[in-house]
Amino acid sequence: MEDTIKVNKLPETNNPEVKNIIFYYTGTGNSLWIARTLAEKIGNTELKSIMEWDNKTTIYPPVVGIIFPVHIWGIPHRVLKFINELGIKSPEYIFAVANNAGQVSNTLVQMKKVMRGKDIKLSGGWSVVMPSNYIPWGGPGTADQQNSRFQQAEKTLSNIAEKVTNRVIMPVEKGPIWQRLLFTGLYKLAFPYVAKMDNRFWVTEDCNHCNICIKICPSKNIKLEDNQLLWSNNCEQCLSCIQWCPKEAIQYGKRTIAYHRYHHPQIKLSDLIK
Ligand SMILES: Cc1cc2nc3c(=O)[nH]c(=O)nc-3n(C[C@H](O)[C@H](O)[C@H](O)COP(=O)(O)O)c2cc1C
Repeated sequence: MEDTIKVNKLPETNNPEVKNIIFYYTGTGNSLWIARTLAEKIGNTELKSIMEWDNKTTIYPPVVGIIFPVHIWGIPHRVLKFINELGIKSPEYIFAVANNAGQVSNTLVQMKKVMRGKDIKLSGGWSVVMPSNYIPWGGPGTADQQNSRFQQAEKTLSNIAEKVTNRVIMPVEKGPIWQRLLFTGLYKLAFPYVAKMDNRFWVTEDCNHCNICIKICPSKNIKLEDNQLLWSNNCEQCLSCIQWCPKEAIQYGKRTIAYHRYHHPQIKLSDLIK
């Protein structure tokens, strides 16, 4: 049984002059694929990268979506900063999609509270399960396992698009209580240290100095000095550097050498590096 509260019938927004906006933040393309798929299903929607948004203007789109990955059982730093700075007047409908590898935990409740602090009521918040890009704990699964997640995600996204189109106000999704109790504490403990977690990156001799890691890093955290790659303690832990390295030369700790790299099969490097 779906936990629907009420349906707001709001003015038609198919006026091409007034576009909906979906903001996305991504390390390995899962969130961008979700954003694209939703934009296509909802229609009349522009995609904006959170990494490129300058937050200088106040926006008035009828529908706003925020799509991002769950990091350490909560909202990533960069997304939190973006929401706090976002100049926005209460849209007709504002929703979030926290995509994750199976443990959404308290992330969307956290999002609801952050929005409330801005006097905005989140209209809906959904979890979408995608292959894991947290390579220090393992790979994304076999091709079959990944395909099964993509297919399930496609169905979930059709459902979300229908809710958004009909402006259905819903409670946000959340993980089981044990997850929220245990992992919300870990998120809070880890949060101040994320920027410095880059001290476990290292590079094998396969590195050919293509500089893709430097270009793709959303925090401009990677430098080449004396022919050596250096991480500068301003890391978002998005893991795009390690996952997009064409030589698989970047490693994190001891275990990543054993795993193949992952990015969403329909997202290209050129989608992320302009
Ligand atoms: C630093 C980091 C922490 C993560 N923490 C979680 C988590 O707490 N729960 C979860 O289910 N997935 C977690 N993941 C997996 C991602 O949320 C998931 O693979 C997501 O689809 C990646 O999206 P992206 O390609 O748009 O970056 C984590 C990934 C990273 C890089």
